[in-house]
Formats: sequence, structure tokens, C-alpha cells
Amino acid sequence: MRPIRKAVFPVAGMGTRFLPATKAMPKEMLPVVDKPLIQYAVEEAVKAGITELIFVTGRNKRAIEDHFDSAPELEADLESKNKIELLNTVRGILPANVNCIYIRQSAPLGLGHAVLTAAPIVGNEPFAVLLADDLIDADEPVLKQLIDAAIKYDGSVLGVQDVPREETKKYGICDAQRVDDRAARVTHMVEKPEPADAPSTLAVVGRYILEPEIFDHLRKTQRGAGNEIQLTDGIEALLRERAVYAYRYEGQRYDCGNKTGMFEATVALGRKYHGLEP
Ligand code: G1P
Repeated sequence: MRPIRKAVFPVAGMGTRFLPATKAMPKEMLPVVDKPLIQYAVEEAVKAGITELIFVTGRNKRAIEDHFDSAPELEADLESKNKIELLNTVRGILPANVNCIYIRQSAPLGLGHAVLTAAPIVGNEPFAVLLADDLIDADEPVLKQLIDAAIKYDGSVLGVQDVPREETKKYGICDAQRVDDRAARVTHMVEKPEPADAPSTLAVVGRYILEPEIFDHLRKTQRGAGNEIQLTDGIEALLRERAVYAYRYEGQRYDCGNKTGMFEATVALGRKYHGLEP
């Protein structure tokens, strides 16, 4: 496995579940305590050694670009008022060796299409995909755990967790053969199956390490669940010729794609990292 330097952040979604908050603001900019969701995902990637951040954006997403850009007026203002801690917070959002690249998804055709949009920038090397909706609090960044697994097992790796059977229709679900306590070789994948049809309850969360061959499959992937081009369907084709592993990461995931998960994350992280008590 070659070094993994690039991460794709699909951020073109509309975020209708959080309207009206997301009417004029990207859902990825919704804060959990004091940081936008997308920053948690970016920090996880940077801690895992990623240096090229590729954002697949759409309309109304400019706030994300501004967030990761320098802000000279704000910085000058904080400096003149001697607010050094805040100045360091604002300046320290990204280390100097990390680059942001933005590319627009031409139409909202699904996660598989969003990842394929990044193909010209990713090129012919393995890369990560992070969905900012899945906020994962972990001692060792989950993306680092997956990169280590990709190197160890020499294949693509999907972050997975067991979910209650009634929830399979919210996820990509894997059928897999156990390798060890954490890893299993994926033999079949299906996007959002009904509980009765699900091959297992092993659900993919929004963390992937993918080999570049995925792009050839995504180019051929037809519309699937929800009439969208699904990343899961591309991976189902990929695993017929390349090894794909499901990896049970260590960490607590919050599904910040809905209000309950967002609320739980806010309370848990507020308590743990900010000493807040609701
Ligand atoms: C996406 C993927 C799905 C995955 C999920 C994880 O679905 O399509 O396979 O299990 O993210 O959060 P979405 O939540 O965007 O509908």
C-alpha cells in the first residue's frame, strides 16, 4: 500500500434535515460546541497524516472555503486587542503543510458520483473519504486506525460498526469473513437494505480508505438506492477484483446527520472536553 496523503470530503449535500439552520449555511458548518462538524473531520484526517484535503462542494458551500482560509482582518483585530489565545485558535485551524483543494460536483447524483468527481485530483494513489456527518471521538483518530489497517492487510478498508437490525436501511451493509478481532474481508455489500434483506448488521460509517481502482468502477456504476450513484455499489464491484476489508474501529460515533446525534455529540463533547454541564 502506497502512502495515503489525500482525503476527499464530500460536502455538496443540502442538509435538509436541519432546516431552517441550513437554509443559507452548509450543514458541515453546524457547530458541535465551538467547532463546525467539518473541522472535526479535517482534524482527524490531519492527525492521521493527510496533507491534501479535497472538498467536493456544491452551491452555497463557500463558507467552508472561508473557514479553512486565512482571515487577515479578523487576525489583525484579535492581535490589536491582544487576544492571543483566540488568534492562535483561528490561525491554527490548519497546519502550514496542509493544502485545501475545492472541486464542484456538477449535480447531486449521490456519494459515488461525489467521490468520482475528485478522481482528477486524487490520481492513481490510495486515498481516504470522510463524511463529516459521522463525528467519531476516539483516542487514536479513526482514520489513522484505518490507514494502519490498509497497510497491514494491503487493501481498501471501510470503517464499520454493528447496528441494530431495524437500522440497516440507513447504511451500507457488509457481508464479511472474519480475519481477526477487528478486521473482516468483505464479500458483499448492499446500500440501505431493508432489515429482512440485510446480509448482516455490519454497517459502514463515513470513513473509507480506497484504492484508486474504485474510480474505474464508479464510472460504470448505475443509479442504485434512492436513484443515486452509490459509493457502496462501486465498492461492491471493486471487491470482486481487489481485497476490501471491514474494520471495527475503536471510538464513539455520533451520527450528526440527524438532530438526535447532533444533540448527543454536543452534550458528550461539551462535558468531556469543555467541562460544561447542561
Ligand atoms: C452514506 C453511505 C452509507 C453509509 C453512511 C454512513 O449514507 O451511502 O453507505 O453507511 O453514509 O454514515 P448517507 O448517510 O449519506 O445516506
